[in-house]
This record gives sequence, C-alpha cells and structure tokens, in this order.
Amino acid sequence: MAGWLAAAPSYGPPRMTRSVFIETFGCQMNTADSEQMLGRLGQAGWTPVETPEEADLVVFNTCSVRDHAEGKIRSRLGVLREQKKQRPALKIAIAGCMAQREKDEILRKWPQVDIVVGTDQFARLPELVERVEETGRICATDFGDWEDDRGVHALRTEGVNAWVPVMRGCNYNCTYCVVPFTRGREKSRRPEAVEDEVRSLVAKGFRQVTLLGQTVDAYGKTLGDGSNLACLLRRLHGIEGLLRIRFITSHPKDITDELLDTVAALPKVAKHLHVPAQAGSDRILRLMGRRYGRDEYLRFVERARARMPEVELLSDFIVGFPGETDAEFEETVALMRQVRFGGAYVFTYSVRPGTPAVRLPDDVPEAVKKERCNRLLALQLEHQEEDHRRLHGREVEILVEGASKTDADMLHGRTIGNRNVVFPRQGRDGMVGTLQRVRVTRSTALTLFAD
Ligand code: SAH
Ligand code: SF4
Ligand code: F3S
Repeated sequence: MAGWLAAAPSYGPPRMTRSVFIETFGCQMNTADSEQMLGRLGQAGWTPVETPEEADLVVFNTCSVRDHAEGKIRSRLGVLREQKKQRPALKIAIAGCMAQREKDEILRKWPQVDIVVGTDQFARLPELVERVEETGRICATDFGDWEDDRGVHALRTEGVNAWVPVMRGCNYNCTYCVVPFTRGREKSRRPEAVEDEVRSLVAKGFRQVTLLGQTVDAYGKTLGDGSNLACLLRRLHGIEGLLRIRFITSHPKDITDELLDTVAALPKVAKHLHVPAQAGSDRILRLMGRRYGRDEYLRFVERARARMPEVELLSDFIVGFPGETDAEFEETVALMRQVRFGGAYVFTYSVRPGTPAVRLPDDVPEAVKKERCNRLLALQLEHQEEDHRRLHGREVEILVEGASKTDADMLHGRTIGNRNVVFPRQGRDGMVGTLQRVRVTRSTALTLFAD
C-alpha cells in the first residue's frame, strides 16, 4: 500500500497524458516553431508544463545566430543528466538551429540527449518520441519542403498578437550569417494555409498577426504562381475581426514599390518596416555580401517615406565586422543620423563557424566593438527620446495588448508604427484587444506614457 501511495501521491485518476517542457532560445521564428511543436505534441496527447522537473520530455529549441548558445545548453543538460539518473524514462530533445548545425557534436558530447531534431523536421517530434524507445537515439535533420499544414494548429499563449510563419529558410548568403545553413533554402507557405490559420486565430480572439520570414518581403517566389507578400497582405486584410497585420524581417533588395504601395493603402497593415541596413559603408556591405550599397538603402528609405511620411523604420546593425575602420564605422553612425530609425538592434560581430566570413580575420578588438556598439545604441536612444518628446500632447491610436510587463497597474499597447504606449489600468481590462485613442503625456526613449 505504501509503495502504491509513493508512486501515485495524488488520489485523482491515474495520469493518462504525458508532459512536455520546452525552452526557446532564439528569434520569433524559433518561438513559432516551439508553438508548433507544442501544438503537434498536444494533438498526440502531451500537455505543456512549466518546469523541466515535472516533464516526461524536455525540449531545448536552440539558436546559433551569434550568442553562446552552447554554454547555456551545456549547463542545462548537466542538471538534466542528474535527473535522468533518478527518472530514466525522461527524454531529452535538442531542436532548432544549433541542432541543425551541430548534430554530430551534440550526439557525441552529450549522451543524455535522446533526440536531435532539425529546423524542417520538428513537426515529426511526437512520432520521434514514440520511436526513440525502440530505436535508441534519433537524429532527424533533413531539409524538406513546406508540408501541407492546413488544419494543424500551433499552441500559442493567449494574447492579442500571434506569430505566423509564412516563409522558412533564406536564399541570401550574407557572409557572417548561419541562417542559410541552419534553415536551408527559402520556401514559402501556401497563401490558403496562411489564411486558414489567421482566420482560426481571429476566431480564438487574436487581433494582430505578425507574419514571419527571414526575408519575408521575398514571400511567394518559390511558389511559382505569382504569389507575393502584397497579395498575401490584401488577402488577409479582408478578414473580419483582424485589426492589425505586421511582417518581419524584410531585406532591402526585396521591398518592391508594389509592396510599399500596398502597405500604405491598407489601413490594418502596420506602418512599420523592419529592414536591416547592417552597416553604412559600401566596402563593409560588400564584404558582408548584402547585395546593396548605402545609396540603394537610402533610396529604399525615400521610397517608403514618399508613400508613408509617418512610417517607422527599424534596423539591425553589426559593428566590428572584420576590417571595419573607424572611418567606416562613422559611415554607419552617419547613416543612422540621416535616416533616424524608429528603433535599432545593434550587435557586435561574432564569427560563426562555417560561414564565409571566417576567412576574414576577426581583427577589431573586443573593446572597440563594445565601444562602437554603445555609441550607436546611445545615438539611437537619443533619436527615440527626441521623437517621443515630439509626441507629447498628441493623440495616438493603439491596439491594447495587455498588462505592462514592468508594471501590473498599467496596460500597454502599440501604435500603428509599433511604438510602445503605457497607460493606467484601473478597470480598463476590457480594452485589451481593442483599438483606443490615447493622449501622450510623457515619455522615455523606450516608452510613451498616456492618460
Ligand atoms: N533575416 C534577417 C535577420 C537574421 S539574424 C535579415 O536578414 O535581416 C538577425 C540579426 O542578427 C541580423 O540582422 C544581424 O544584424 C545579426 N547577426 C547575424 N549574424 C551575426 C553575426 N555573425 N555577428 C553579429 N550579428 C549577427
Ligand atoms: Fe542571414 Fe542575410 Fe539571410 Fe538575413 S538575409 S537570414 S542576414 S543570410
Ligand atoms: Fe532564429 Fe537563431 Fe535560428 S535567430 S533563425 S533561432 S539561428
């Protein structure tokens, strides 16, 4: 009797479902993949849990774009190795970009890992977990086409915004970047499947979708039927109940006039374009393999602003690329001053094994990279502070997204240009998921406050 009690401490019915814990390390695409894995596992009877200790299956969905993913994974796997001694049935899976790239090393270094599943195979995870008991360790990392996924639904945390992948992979070969290796060749999802999913998201209460792709503005090319992002936006725009559509990330070479005209014309489409410039120097851009120069980037900015004077532009920058001189870095600073972005992510260059840029000596000292990064960030914050101050006293329309992450007494929402606005909550929870007009009273570089 005592033994039975120890094995089943709750008096409820025996547990029929198995539990899964997923930790996500990468970008929104990685997050969306985790939601897909949870959706598929859910259909196979798995329930998500909050901690690895409660889980029968632990999945790490990894990233290898520039950080030290491996260190983080190593420490977590160390803890799990101990747990596995107590609970031999525990299964451990490594998914995502690092799994795709470093499958052999993962299997060699970490015997506690049962499954390595790549960026095009994660939908098979439920089946792989079933099989691993019989077959022993499994590695599934082939690249494939976008399978027909109509009717398969990702499990998302409830909210106002849903991430919707519409493209996978990348056909560019920027010399510093691992993504073409971790995600393979570009492929687009069929527009009907995207529309189906967005309709079902709206029925569930989501009010905004953010379409995802590494070069989302190249959407449709591989479908060969004339589909493009402008058509997809028009198609989704008609969905009743959907209030906003965003898309990230765009490549400057693929932003057509037709796309800009469409963004300008459709009121539900965010006036917010994430189009990384990466650098301001033509020589560095050439070494990066970006396929545009400074002038072409500036022409894109002109084309966008001529149609939408209020459009917010967001950029990524890499500082300290091999051989970047002080003068070349100043060209990036000058580009930032000239364009005045609504936001920017600034990264210090880090060598990614296997990318073409490994042939270039990583010769900018770490301290210099740090300093350049800080300078660019400081300038960006200065611009944002000034731009925000100009909005004081003005009314803006926001889509209310929910409680503020930093202050539970406040609600937050976003303008059509994706600026973050915070206002007092007091009995206004009913506004979540609706469009509201609020007056800006004060601001910081990152946030607008409204009454
Ligand atoms: N597909 C997107 C971004 C992919 S990765 C695009 O093409 O814009 C996101 C950002 O990480 C990149 O825009 C770049 O700024 C940064 N990044 C990628 N590889 C990097 C590296 N090796 N070192 C530093 N930053 C890098
Ligand atoms: Fe990487 Fe360049 Fe492709 Fe972006 S466009 S994912 S930076 S190779
Ligand atoms: Fe995303 Fe990281 Fe892969 S940024 S595409 S998860 S390498």
